[in-house]
Amino acid sequence: MSDSDAKPTVAIGSDHAGYSLKTTLAKALTDWGHTVIDLGTDGTASVDYPDFAHAVCRAVVEGRARFGVLVCGTGIGMSMTANRHAGIRCALIHDVTGARLTRAHNDANVIAFGARTTGVEPALDALKTFLATPFEGGRHERRVAKIELTGDPVR
Ligand code: RB5
Repeated sequence: MSDSDAKPTVAIGSDHAGYSLKTTLAKALTDWGHTVIDLGTDGTASVDYPDFAHAVCRAVVEGRARFGVLVCGTGIGMSMTANRHAGIRCALIHDVTGARLTRAHNDANVIAFGARTTGVEPALDALKTFLATPFEGGRHERRVAKIELTGDPVR
């Protein structure tokens, strides 16, 4: 397999509320052939979601991972935190359509899920679609460039 055939590396993180779904998504990613960088948390003890969002986003911004996956109770705190990082475009996703369109139109590089709001099967289907969908470019290139207030270190 050449480098261009390799599945992109994915960094994943959750808080305690997202731990179970994160474990399921990480296993699926491995089964699909991705290298997974699991940045915690490692159990159901209470932790602070921003710590894990920052760790995953740093992995993406620094190029250690191509994509990031974040899970908390609602996905809201994770996505709020992730989008503070220049170069991170994190979408809180509940369905396959959102997963497809945020890659195609927003060039999202991080996907967030709410373990208390999205079921396991919809999350798996959405994650698979997210990873399989290319950015369309064209008119979306200009719009995505306008998201950043300063230079984008990733694109
Ligand atoms: C933790 O109870 C919860 O606040 C967190 O998982 C997340 O939903 C925050 O947005």
